[in-house]
Amino acid sequence: MPITTCIFDAYGTLFDVAAAARTAAAEPGRAAFAAHWPQIAQNWRLKQLQYTWLRAVMQRHTDFWQVTQDGLDWALEAEGLEGDVELRERLLQLYWELEAYAEVPAMLRTLKDAGLNTAILSNGSPDMLDGAVKSAGLTDLLDDVLSVEDVGIFKPADVVYDMVGKRFGCARTEVLFVSSNGWDVAGAAGYGFNTAWVNRASEPVDRLPARPAHILNDLTGIPALAGA
Ligand code: LAC
Repeated sequence: MPITTCIFDAYGTLFDVAAAARTAAAEPGRAAFAAHWPQIAQNWRLKQLQYTWLRAVMQRHTDFWQVTQDGLDWALEAEGLEGDVELRERLLQLYWELEAYAEVPAMLRTLKDAGLNTAILSNGSPDMLDGAVKSAGLTDLLDDVLSVEDVGIFKPADVVYDMVGKRFGCARTEVLFVSSNGWDVAGAAGYGFNTAWVNRASEPVDRLPARPAHILNDLTGIPALAGA
């Protein structure tokens, strides 16, 4: 069945999640942070994601903004920087205005010009996603921004992927689901979507029940995969 609908994960896929820490590290007066920022950025993301999965298993949902703060607090304390309140506030502020990867606007434009549906399906809370989409100038290139807050559990729960068919009235086989997160692609592939894993860091494929159908280095190949 031809692809009618391209669905994108947000953080790490369209938006560069390391940009917040990288930007803060380059600001004046942040020598201590600059020495540790790659480790903090990595732990921040790791803990943020772990907390989503653990809260889903525990059935103790909270929104992505809370787990983003909790992950950052863990990462700052691990490097002895938990006392720097101004740094914490700055990093959180930057998370609302993350950069999109350079190829994102043209890639989405090609999909829209070909008449395909485009949307985000993200763990992010609606207000966080709204901030990121607006600051990256992507509002007119997306038909919708779907947040897990509508179902109250994080990806990769199937009820999250159900949101796509409900919104666009399409079969699973008409969807191309795109994510940089191997576990998200595994969830979506097992659900029955066509999948593309954007593997910028050349990581191994996750050992989970379903594998990505396609593996790309960045998003430039998505229109071709979608038949646009
Ligand atoms: C998201 C996270 C998982 O946008 O990257 O859903």
